[in-house]
Amino acid sequence: MADLEALRSTALAELSAASDAAALEAWRLKYLGRQGVVTQLLRGLVELPVEERRVVGAAANALRGDLEEALAQRRAVAEEAAMAELEAGQIDVTLPGNRGLVGRLHPITQTLREMLAALTQMGFQVAEGPEVELDYYNFEALRIPKHHPARDTMDTFWLDNRRNDERFMLLRTHTSPNQVRFMEGNQPPVRVAVPGRVYRYEATDATHQWMFHQVELLAVDEGISMQHLKGTLTQFAQALFGRDRPVRFRCDYFPFVEPGAEVAVECGLCGGKGCRSCGNEGWLEIGGAGMVHREILENVGYDADRYTGFAAGFGVERIAMLRHGIDDARHFYANELAFLRQF
Ligand code: DAH
Repeated sequence: MADLEALRSTALAELSAASDAAALEAWRLKYLGRQGVVTQLLRGLVELPVEERRVVGAAANALRGDLEEALAQRRAVAEEAAMAELEAGQIDVTLPGNRGLVGRLHPITQTLREMLAALTQMGFQVAEGPEVELDYYNFEALRIPKHHPARDTMDTFWLDNRRNDERFMLLRTHTSPNQVRFMEGNQPPVRVAVPGRVYRYEATDATHQWMFHQVELLAVDEGISMQHLKGTLTQFAQALFGRDRPVRFRCDYFPFVEPGAEVAVECGLCGGKGCRSCGNEGWLEIGGAGMVHREILENVGYDADRYTGFAAGFGVERIAMLRHGIDDARHFYANELAFLRQF
C-alpha cells in the first residue's frame, strides 16, 4: 500500500512537468500503457493472497482512475495553451502586405523619352552617334578650326596627347557632330533627332557637370526657313512645358549655323517678371538653334542652292531641372534613392 502511494506521487509529479502533447503521451505509455507501471502492477495482483488482493486491488484500481483523470485534465490545459499560442501568432489577412520595391526610370531617361516622343510625333527619326569622336566631326566639320575661340567654350577630354589635330579623338563635347555624320550617310529630306551623352572637362557645380545629355535636331529639305525652325521648336518646347508657355528666340552665335539663335521659355515661377530662379531674366534658356551654315551642306555634298536646313541642340539635364524645379544637377548622378524615388 505504501508503494502505491509512492507511485502516485512520482507519477503526478512527472505529469505536472509534462507540458506538451508528446510529453503527455510518453507519460501515458509509461504509467497507463499496456506495458505501463500501473497496468503491470494490476496484473501482478494475482500473486497476492485473496484477502490482500481485494484491498490492494481496490487501491490500485483507484490509483489508475485517479491517474487517468489527472491526465485528462493536463491534456485539456495543454490543448488550451496550444490554442492560445496559435491564436496569438495568427495571421491577419486584412493587414496590408509588404510592398516590394519597384524599379523606375531615371528622371533623365524620363525627360529624354518625352523629348523624343514629342519629336517623333512631329516626324523626326531617331539616330545615334559615337561618344568617342574625331576632332574632325566635333570641331572641324562644324567650322570650329584649331585655335577658334569656340573651342574654349567646350573644354575637351582629349583621348590623345596631340590635341587640336583633326584626326585625333576626344569625348564629344556636344551632339552636333551627328549633323555631319547623318548628312554624310543620308540624302535629303532629313528630319533627325540624335540623343546622347556629351562630356566637358569642367569643374562640377550646381549647373555644370563633366557629363550630361543633349538632343540634337536637324531638318534639311527644299525651302526650309527660319519659320520652320521657330514653329517646330515652339511646338517642341510647348510639348515639354505646356501649350501656353511663351517661347523666345534671340540672336546668338554658333559657328555651324547662320543665323544662330538661343531658345528660351518664359520662367514658370514668375511668369516673366523676373525672380531668383531665372536670375531676374524672366526667361530660361533651353537650347541653341540656327539655320545650317551652307558650307556644312556643301561639305557633305548637298546642293546648297537647292537645300536649306535648321539645327538645334537641347540640354536634357537643364530641361529636367526646369520641369521639376531641381536646383542642383549633381543630384542626377549621386545615386541618392531618396531623390530618385520622387520621379
Ligand atoms: N552644340 C551646341 C552646344 O552644345 C548647341 C547648339 C547650338 C546646337 C546651335 C545646334 C545649334 O544644333 O544649331 O552648345
